[in-house]
Amino acid sequence: MTEINLGTTADMHVHLRDGTMSKLITPTVKSGGISICYVMPNLVPPITTKQQVEEYHKNLEKMAPDTTFLMSFYLCKELTPELVEECADKGLIHGIKCYPAGVTTNSKYGVDPNDFSQFYPIFEKMQEKGIILNLHGEKPGIDEKDEINIINAESKFLPALRKLHQDFPRLKIILEHTTTFESIELVRELNQGKKQGDEIFIGATITAHHLYLIIDNWANNPINYCKPVAKFHKDKNALIDAATSGEPWFFFGSDSAPHPIHKKQVHVDVCAGVYTQCNAIGYVAEIFDKFNKLENLKKFVSDNGIKFYDLKEEILAKHKNESVWLIERKNKVPEILGNGEVEVVPFKAGDELKYIIEWRKN
Ligand code: NCD
Ligand code: ZN
Repeated sequence: MTEINLGTTADMHVHLRDGTMSKLITPTVKSGGISICYVMPNLVPPITTKQQVEEYHKNLEKMAPDTTFLMSFYLCKELTPELVEECADKGLIHGIKCYPAGVTTNSKYGVDPNDFSQFYPIFEKMQEKGIILNLHGEKPGIDEKDEINIINAESKFLPALRKLHQDFPRLKIILEHTTTFESIELVRELNQGKKQGDEIFIGATITAHHLYLIIDNWANNPINYCKPVAKFHKDKNALIDAATSGEPWFFFGSDSAPHPIHKKQVHVDVCAGVYTQCNAIGYVAEIFDKFNKLENLKKFVSDNGIKFYDLKEEILAKHKNESVWLIERKNKVPEILGNGEVEVVPFKAGDELKYIIEWRKN
């Protein structure tokens, strides 16, 4: 029977919301098998000030004291290089998330990826301070002539990533929740020639659900609808290949994004986001198992992300005494999660998974 020590695990892209949803979801970071998570700033209003980031961090820690929450800002014109410097020096933020306006949930305060020049002073400061730029890589369509749609929006964004890397070669950039064959190819291309131990500047997160889904699976099921949308078999296979490869630029970011069930059960304006936090490691392990790659699971869900984020000893020290173990034991995904105030349907609700996680003292 398989038992694997995954050490300190990291989910480098989570949505923990606020209010009652946050109370329900935040403890599931740990129960889903995650030690350290990187928290998205797309609240309403978005996280753009020192006070907001401090308060949000405090609230999350109160709800789940064993978990480490790495915080982020929402890229917008209110940010200044001075604020970024101050928050970087104090260790309050690890990155800044860039949402192109209009492409996903709470992205209306976002930016125009056709012209990042107004943010160049911020990127300069981030590069200097080792702050990560997290890209939601979808190009918004302005009008019909653009021929942009939810299937090609990620591929159309890729030239913007290329240009940013050219202009800021030492800025750490992550293409978040990659969904296409082309994205995987580009991330490999931009890391070509890197040797073991070299510093890496371009990374990509891969979610759990994109290792399972293609377009057919969300076209008739709003629970599986998220942005960027799952694409085609060729894309899914490229994501599985990348995630299971052990290559250091690919790591786990679940993009677990809960929405109340009543916002999924609608005919129009279905909310984008798949909730996977409560079984995060279990979903990923199942795929690694299926492709006989369990030996690379720890790289994907623990080592690669922690290395890319260059997490300091004082952050890792908190997790020294406890490890996440993957245990081969059947485990049913709950049909629904609720706390009397809000209800969420998890990914693969009611299905049986092959693995469960346990927290064990070292
Ligand atoms: C996310 C959310 O709900 O906040 N939704 C999603 O479909 N992934 C936003 C995002 O990361 O795009
Ligand atoms: Zn997200």
